[in-house]
Amino acid sequence: MSALLTPASRNAAARSNVSPIIWDGDQLRLLDQRVLPHEVRYIACRGAADVAEAIHGMAVRGAPAIGIAAAYGMVLALRADRDSLERAFETLAASRPTAVNLRWALERMRGAWLKQPDLAVFEAEAVRIHDEDLAQNLKMGELGAALIGPGARVVTHCNTGALATGGHGTALGVIRSAYAKHHIELVYNTETRPWLQGARLTAWELQQEGIPGKLVADGAIAHLMSRETIDWVIVGADRIAENGDTANKIGTYALAVAAKQHGVRFMVVAPSSTFDLRCRGGADIPIEERTARELTEFRGVPVAPEGYDAFNPVFDVTPAALIDAIVCEHGVIEKPNRERVRAVLK
Ligand code: MRU
Repeated sequence: MSALLTPASRNAAARSNVSPIIWDGDQLRLLDQRVLPHEVRYIACRGAADVAEAIHGMAVRGAPAIGIAAAYGMVLALRADRDSLERAFETLAASRPTAVNLRWALERMRGAWLKQPDLAVFEAEAVRIHDEDLAQNLKMGELGAALIGPGARVVTHCNTGALATGGHGTALGVIRSAYAKHHIELVYNTETRPWLQGARLTAWELQQEGIPGKLVADGAIAHLMSRETIDWVIVGADRIAENGDTANKIGTYALAVAAKQHGVRFMVVAPSSTFDLRCRGGADIPIEERTARELTEFRGVPVAPEGYDAFNPVFDVTPAALIDAIVCEHGVIEKPNRERVRAVLK
């Protein structure tokens, strides 16, 4: 995809009417994913601090989407003050620690500015990051769907669709592409506590696409696999280490353990911007921990005894040994290990 896309042409290319990130050349508007699916509301961002707040506050979420939003945040910052490069970089980089796409996008934007400090060129770089992500998702959709046979029943976790990316989605993109080939019989999607990205966002996207889906509690997965034939677990990623260990939404590791126990294949779908070869293994990946209130309260209403503490890691690491295939836009890494990851990413 070489020409830069408009919001409307991007949706047409993604065959979607969901626009989580709208850049009109002037303004950045982010779909507030905290109020979906019952309300469609956009947040206008005026500078890097607004974008960082939207990322930290989960208005925009999903590894590729926060990278794209951060790239536009850099454009807003430098339009206001051409000397704010490092300040804007740090503000945005601090907004969430685990998804490496965020830092990757910021480093790419910083490199572009240092090479050519021109605002029009800088803006075009952000739009390119956005468009490339969509093109990569369409490619991964094709590659991942080729692994899925007819009549497949799959499980997915969190939200990895158009809302989490530049369009089409990563894991959900593979499901969409496989569905277009009539290979998906049913998708079980987890609730994904505590933010309910599965119940609120994935269920919404599946319903809009007319893909048969069923919601399942996170804790019901091992039971489901013990009673029904599931062909694949298909998930996205927030950071993949050099050896293939994969950080993704909390609960992914438990899904992978249950999948191994029941002979269910496990697929990770992520663009090259999600790989971090500076991390040798999963232990090097920083795991975001969020406030205890996300567990002790539900929408501001206490659900645990007052004053009770909670441990709230929002990602975990699935060891490479539990992964059958990682799909990225450059190819499929079967039974990932250091050599195979390096060979596909070089
Ligand atoms: O906390 P979130 O909602 O940003 O977490 C999102 C996930 O864990 C996704 O699986 C991951 O970012 C891949 S999205 C294409």
